[in-house]
Amino acid sequence: MTAQQTQLEYLPPDLKRELLPKHVAVIMDGNGRWAKRQGLPRIMGHKRGVDALKDLLRCCKDWGIEALTAYAFSTENWGRPQEEVDFLMTLFQRVLRQELREMVEENVQIRFVGNLSSLPRALQAEISRSVEETKNNRSIRFTVATNYGGRQEIVQACRAIAVEVQQGLLQPDEIDEATFERHLYTTGISDPDLLIRTSGEMRISNFLLWQIAYSEIYITDTLWPDFDRSEFHRALCDYQQRERRFGKV
Ligand code: FPP
Repeated sequence: MTAQQTQLEYLPPDLKRELLPKHVAVIMDGNGRWAKRQGLPRIMGHKRGVDALKDLLRCCKDWGIEALTAYAFSTENWGRPQEEVDFLMTLFQRVLRQELREMVEENVQIRFVGNLSSLPRALQAEISRSVEETKNNRSIRFTVATNYGGRQEIVQACRAIAVEVQQGLLQPDEIDEATFERHLYTTGISDPDLLIRTSGEMRISNFLLWQIAYSEIYITDTLWPDFDRSEFHRALCDYQQRERRFGKV
């Protein structure tokens, strides 16, 4: 191992532990463009994207970040060519199967958010297994947004609340932010402190619409497969310069 690699395993000295984000969320964009630039098919970009995600998860754990959430597949991504959608579903399933043992050993808790019931059955089974086997793990909470859409999440929360009102379990004037949060897929997970988007697009793309109300946003031109520890380090340095006021002075 080189001196630089050893150094990157530990929190870099220019970062203040007490100012680290507790929860980092990532929009992993640019896999297709990365592949195109290398003269490779788009799916190779997704494969390399998995490596970048694995490294970021390891890095968050090494540096003491409590939660990482990654946007793997949006409700709009079904509109991609069938071949690419099929590849991604198989990739998710394979990666989960291959990585489960390491996640258990590394004490990683994995969880999924999104409309999981319309994913392929074999993937649903792999998801259930990985969630069950890691549910008591505590080193880091890793959430994967799959078939996820922020608007869809809000609509399903409204429906669930409306049913409770209809059943007389809740009065309309009792509905507050806490009630709403309890009905989101992300219930029990703190809101992201830092949202990172790669590949330079200045968009939220229907990701965690409710939860990012006060998140700091960091956008880099780097394409997702090239987003490594030194890029993450840069994002954290930028974050630590920010003054978070949450609407106050
Ligand atoms: C966006 O890049 C990326 C995706 C739609 C897929 C991201 C998924 C992974 C990295 C795999 C994660 C795996 C697990 C198991 C959680 P793009 O294709 O939109 O890139 P482009 O904008 O350059 O075309």
